Amino acid sequence: MNIPFSPPFIDDDVLFEVAESLKSGWITTGPKTKTLEEEIAKIASVSHTLCVNSATSGLMLVMKWFGVGPGDEVIVPSYTYCATALAVYHLGATPIMVDIKSDFTIDPDKILAAISNRTKVIIPVDIAGWPADYDAINKIVSLPEVVRLFNPNGNVQKRLGRILVMSDAAHSIGAFYNSKPTGSLCDITVFSLHAVKNVTTAEGGAITINLSTPFISSEVYAQMRLMSLNGQTKDAFTKTKAGGWRYDIILPGFKMNMPDVCAAIGLAQIRKYGSFLLPERKRVAEEYYRQFRKYSWAQLPLLKDGGTESSYHLFALRINGITECQRDAIIDEISLYNIAVNVHFVPMPMLTIFKDMGYDIKNHPIAYDNYSREISLPIYPQLTEEQVKYIVDAVTNSFNKVVGK
Ligand SMILES: Cc1ncc(COP(=O)(O)O)c(C=O)c1O
Repeated sequence: MNIPFSPPFIDDDVLFEVAESLKSGWITTGPKTKTLEEEIAKIASVSHTLCVNSATSGLMLVMKWFGVGPGDEVIVPSYTYCATALAVYHLGATPIMVDIKSDFTIDPDKILAAISNRTKVIIPVDIAGWPADYDAINKIVSLPEVVRLFNPNGNVQKRLGRILVMSDAAHSIGAFYNSKPTGSLCDITVFSLHAVKNVTTAEGGAITINLSTPFISSEVYAQMRLMSLNGQTKDAFTKTKAGGWRYDIILPGFKMNMPDVCAAIGLAQIRKYGSFLLPERKRVAEEYYRQFRKYSWAQLPLLKDGGTESSYHLFALRINGITECQRDAIIDEISLYNIAVNVHFVPMPMLTIFKDMGYDIKNHPIAYDNYSREISLPIYPQLTEEQVKYIVDAVTNSFNKVVGK
């Protein structure tokens, strides 16, 4: 058997949508992107969603809209993909990394200690599809002493009057937190639609807007859309209409829009996400649970707890009582079975770029502990029960070989 880590789900419906886009004569941002935005807005239970060309772009676009820049600080968990912090870095602001809880998500107690009068944004990350503790985080930004400390710069920050909570939900489309869907859990959420994600557009991201008054979602959407298209008053689709040539550039925007030919892939997938793709991921996760439960060395990830439920993006197995070296050796053994596994993630303070900036893993003991014992197993709709059994046997044999029975 040869088991890849996360192949995209491409069926006849995807091929049909993509072919339709190609044949239509319109392949960049247009009707398919718009429809995908509407579908994602429905899943997230918000009125407006903007599609962009990646989650990294989405994080940057939102912070640019909020007026984040040099001198500002943005609080991020140390345990995430580098894009969460690099988006901050590219705006000239400083990522402030805080440690996580055992469930892989940012620790709200550590957030409070990290807030200063320079803090502009907090970015919780829903690692593996398991939502961060949004109630605690939303409460923190509204505490009177935290609001008093907020030092707004520019109109948007003045209007909000507090730290912005922007979720990095790259992994968690379709997850729930206290019975509410991701996308609606804080001010703004950014999903990733990258090739390995639950719903993909090859590369892509989606920003859901959930700001309350005085913000009007349709206006925020229009502003962000403008910012994703160079600040140009007319998009290419409108300009192709006869007589529609005249345009202006009214702000220094980015070029981050999603092409229709990419949106077509996501559109075909999202139409069957709730009814098929997500339940199939859940099936695989439950099968892993059933088969691993008997082993005391296997620490299984949180998948459901009351009204909170994962999007089953990653199956983050941890192995009790092993060192980082033993974990690496177990992965080497597993690869001999032609099974691709991964580690999500190397904590950012262990990566050269961040080490060189002075971040130190010693200040992030939970992140290190989770990382050193973690192995992400394949999880996707195409996996059969037989393949899951093959993976569980391979992991078990590899554990026994490295650690001993
Ligand atoms: C937690 C997290 N945030 C952000 C990103 C960036 O997503 P994208 O590749 O769509 O820019 C990723 C990508 O894997 C991620 O895992």
